[in-house]
Amino acid sequence: MRLRHIFLFFLLGMFVGLSLSGCHLNAKLKWLLSLILRLVYWGFTSIWFSRTDVASVTPWLAPIVWEGTFDSTVIDSIHKQQNITIATTVFALGKYTRFLKDFLESAEEHYFVGFHVHYYLFTDQPEEVPNVKLGEEHYLTVKKVPSMNRWQDISMNRMKILEKLIENELASEADYIFCLDVDTKFYGRWGVESLGRLVGVIHPWFFDAPRFIFTYERRPESQAYIPAGEGDYYYTGAAFGGSLKDVHHLTKTCREQINIDIANSIEAIWHEESHLNKYFLHNKPSKLLSPEYLWRDISMSSGRVKIIRFSHVSKNNAEVRPNL
Ligand code: UDP
Ligand code: GAL
Ligand code: MN
Repeated sequence: MRLRHIFLFFLLGMFVGLSLSGCHLNAKLKWLLSLILRLVYWGFTSIWFSRTDVASVTPWLAPIVWEGTFDSTVIDSIHKQQNITIATTVFALGKYTRFLKDFLESAEEHYFVGFHVHYYLFTDQPEEVPNVKLGEEHYLTVKKVPSMNRWQDISMNRMKILEKLIENELASEADYIFCLDVDTKFYGRWGVESLGRLVGVIHPWFFDAPRFIFTYERRPESQAYIPAGEGDYYYTGAAFGGSLKDVHHLTKTCREQINIDIANSIEAIWHEESHLNKYFLHNKPSKLLSPEYLWRDISMSSGRVKIIRFSHVSKNNAEVRPNL
């Protein structure tokens, strides 16, 4: 990449030099003009078409999507030719229905605009679902689910409900699926660059942390156990996706592992997120999304996160959750 740029840098200089040779400008001015043009080119290419400050590929050659690693016009036009539908699931039980309005309204501004999206919204109170105007080719189906007393159970039980949704309803309805937390908001584009066979999102707290910091489940008694020295990235449980087939296998496996833990009276430290991390260790994602695709607090930015696309909103856990 760099060598190519250096070569093009000199080629551009020669081209500009030749083009100016017929003009009645003094030599110094010509040289200056050519230098300015070359610097503009250099700046443009290095800023827009390469990222040297972050890894944009995993050791198993899966892309890691960061701003500056793709061209949205090109990637949109490729996918426009395919008639794809992205199923998107979100759960809002108990007091979490309060997050729906911002979630849906911001999604309609930024999430797969111009592509087919079908939201599947699971709630224990369908009457609390706000009436949000959806864009063209965007649909919403509300599904009633029973309430639960523990937030940990609500969170973990999503795996089972998603497994059944894919199995029973999505086969002829969608091509890809994303499963998202509802206590979130979109602030920037989330589009077709995120699509892949199996997609994980790097947790915003751990993208530049050493492996020993990762909050994997460390007790060997749990099915989510990852021994010290193993693991590639720490993935969030708040967003994942992929093809129906791959996400079905993921949700089924996590549901089975959670059930084994229940039978053994153990609950993984970060619930289904711990099982998801174990799954991704043995079933490597084919694409990773950078923490741009799940930031923690919109007001806190990092030099390498140049655009925040989707972020957890701040919430008072003690107030919104049914239990502590
Ligand atoms: N959730 C819910 N009602 C609850 C607790 C959780 O609907 O009372 C769902 C909701 O979709 C939420 C997800 O479970 O986004 C995960 O829980 P939470 O966001 O509290 O976990 P955190 O992201 O704070 O770890
Ligand atoms: C927190 C997050 C939890 C879990 C944890 C992992 O930021 O709220 O859901 O992901 O990090 O350490
Ligand atoms: Mn959340």
